[in-house]
Amino acid sequence: MADNHGLKLVDRDDDGIDRAFRADVLEGLRQDQKAIPARWLYDDAGSQLFEDITQVEEYYPTRCEREILEARGDEFAAEVGPGRAVVEFGSGSSVKTPLLLGAIDPAAYVPLDIAGDFLRAAAADLAAKFPGLPVHPVEADFMRRVELPAEVAGMPKLGFFPGSTIGNMVPRTAVDLLRTMRETLGQGSLLLIGMDLVKDPEILEAAYDDAKGVTGEFNLNLARRINRELGGTIPVEDLSHEARWNDDFARIEMHLVADRNMTFDVAGERFAMKAGETIHTENSHKFKRRSANTLLLAGGWTPVRRWLDEGEKFSVVLAEASVPRSAP
Ligand code: AVJ
Repeated sequence: MADNHGLKLVDRDDDGIDRAFRADVLEGLRQDQKAIPARWLYDDAGSQLFEDITQVEEYYPTRCEREILEARGDEFAAEVGPGRAVVEFGSGSSVKTPLLLGAIDPAAYVPLDIAGDFLRAAAADLAAKFPGLPVHPVEADFMRRVELPAEVAGMPKLGFFPGSTIGNMVPRTAVDLLRTMRETLGQGSLLLIGMDLVKDPEILEAAYDDAKGVTGEFNLNLARRINRELGGTIPVEDLSHEARWNDDFARIEMHLVADRNMTFDVAGERFAMKAGETIHTENSHKFKRRSANTLLLAGGWTPVRRWLDEGEKFSVVLAEASVPRSAP
């Protein structure tokens, strides 16, 4: 396990409160349009609820991406070649990884994640499935440049970033991340990235507001987490989940809508919401072929090939680290 140079990934105050969580929530609730960064949706309960979302009928991205990974393994192998170190950004439970590793004859696997326990368990699982494949987990925040383990230093790299997680970032942040990934992986590397596609807003809104209410629970869990961890008094039962398509920015937005005028406290500070006012909790950007290509290019990656599922709902794109060269 590569270490983090003694840096703690979670910085807590004397009361055990996660300082970054409190700062993001307070800053976000003070804005005219209240908004909280989506990363805070994923505490233990939120991560479990997301796993549940991937099983609901209306949520197509996980199924479609798996279909592509299962069907196109030979084509990945032909493009990527053998002997690469596969670096997975935010590996989580690494459920999609075996499909890729089984297809391409990799030289090593490096899962990166901030959740250390999850990471080590998943890494052990994979090592058992692929005997002989060196696995080097790194506990790290992939939004920052990561020092890869010395064992893979000389190997060509293939970054793997499935799930359309790139879509959870606004373009400016997504470009920063893509450039950081390029720095982490180095020249000559490739990136295989899942990018969800623009489609009928009704299908999109249903995918983010499923009939069983699992996505609603996932969204409301953020308010519960604030109450639990930050001494909050948010009346969660008077908030509603909403998924709305923002056509200008080609994204699904999740909001928590106040069902009535309300006041509440968080970490000793008072906030008010009018009936109908919302807290914006997540963006999930959707792409077209050209918008996907533009984002990748802006981040220093040249698209080389893309694959779609049979229903053409989701894309997996292979890109190579752009070589700086003079161009018109
Ligand atoms: C984490 C990017 C895969 O945006 O589709 C699912 C998160 N939020 N339902 C997505 C999510 C609500 C998800 N990803």
